[in-house]
Amino acid sequence: MKARIAVLAGDGVGREIVPEAVKVLKAVAVRYGHTFEFQSADVGGHAIDKVGVPLPAETLTIAKHSDAVLLGAVGGPKWEGLEYSLRPERALLGLREQLGLYANLRPAKLYPMLADASTLRREVIEGIDMLVIRELTGGIYFGKPKGIEKLPGGGERGVNTEVYTTEEIRRIAVVAFEAARKRRKKVMSVDKANVLESSELWRRVVTEVQKDYADVALSHIYVDNCAMQLVRNPRQFDVLLCNNIFGDILSDEAAMLTGSIGMLPSASIGAKVGLFEPIHGSAPDIAGKNIANPIATIASAAMMLSYAFQLDKEAAAIDQAIVKTLELGYRTKDIHAEGMRLVGTTEMGDAILQNLPA
Ligand code: NAI
Ligand code: MG
Repeated sequence: MKARIAVLAGDGVGREIVPEAVKVLKAVAVRYGHTFEFQSADVGGHAIDKVGVPLPAETLTIAKHSDAVLLGAVGGPKWEGLEYSLRPERALLGLREQLGLYANLRPAKLYPMLADASTLRREVIEGIDMLVIRELTGGIYFGKPKGIEKLPGGGERGVNTEVYTTEEIRRIAVVAFEAARKRRKKVMSVDKANVLESSELWRRVVTEVQKDYADVALSHIYVDNCAMQLVRNPRQFDVLLCNNIFGDILSDEAAMLTGSIGMLPSASIGAKVGLFEPIHGSAPDIAGKNIANPIATIASAAMMLSYAFQLDKEAAAIDQAIVKTLELGYRTKDIHAEGMRLVGTTEMGDAILQNLPA
């Protein structure tokens, strides 16, 4: 197949890890007979330095006219003093909004050879393989009324509103059931239906959507219990379906069970062009030293192949290459342990490339 990929490396370690993922995608293209065209553009702090805004019109145009976007990370101390609307991080919100990406997918999978990197005991986390699906464009982050108002006689009142429509719930539920079909066929939907009317509707609509997915089991869980179950028995989860705010919190919790921020990919989908990026930030503390772990970004490229291009075999090949490389003992500094082979960013990328199945 032929695909156009927008490459937005961004700031900090983004500039080191994204080239590694591109390298792997190029190798996959050659091996499997695809044509990937890469087009790079500035985003975040680098865009601010060049043209004064975090998401230049040209970058947005390139992203919109691509078939998928690969992003590194944005931000860093250099731009922290800027006013909120000019901060590098605004570029992410802008991209999601402009591309219409309402579903954020974050797999949390434990690589058995890295079990000791987690703060939880091996017997609790062994076998973790879940996918957190977070609704991304609705809920309390966008609902109105919102704002801070002055009260007569002093004091202020801060307001945010949790709002979901039937259609917003339906489409994210469809993403969850479709994803579950490719996995262990279990969806657990998170809500607070014992207290919130918006959750009552959420539960009703998700239950309705499930009728089209008789092969997928659906259960419901209150968000507070879910937070508890994630650390008590995380293996029970397959697909976790969440609204925006619950997903924001629980996806970080799920991610950290596996203990390694440099390993975890993400996908934002729902529209014509999907966005694929590691869950971590620009890691300014280690940027420019060739020590960042490129695996999260390479795994994000694998998600791109699967979710944007339906190239499941090619995506699986990348995942296999990552596992094999870890099995051979290659470790970047963040996941290094005694007796393992400490490598830098580019060496890790090279090793994964070498270990792509023939
Ligand atoms: P961070 O994720 O950049 O770093 C947290 C810690 O994890 C640091 O110690 C870092 O060295 C380490 N780390 C992160 N990625 C790593 C990798 N690939 N390999 C090895 N170690 C890695 O989060 P932090 O420090 O809170 O934020 C730094 C900057 O990134 C800020 O400007 C923040 O706003 C931005 N940020 C951007 C995100 C994005 O572009 N999606 C997401 C989160 C933060
Ligand atoms: Mg977050």
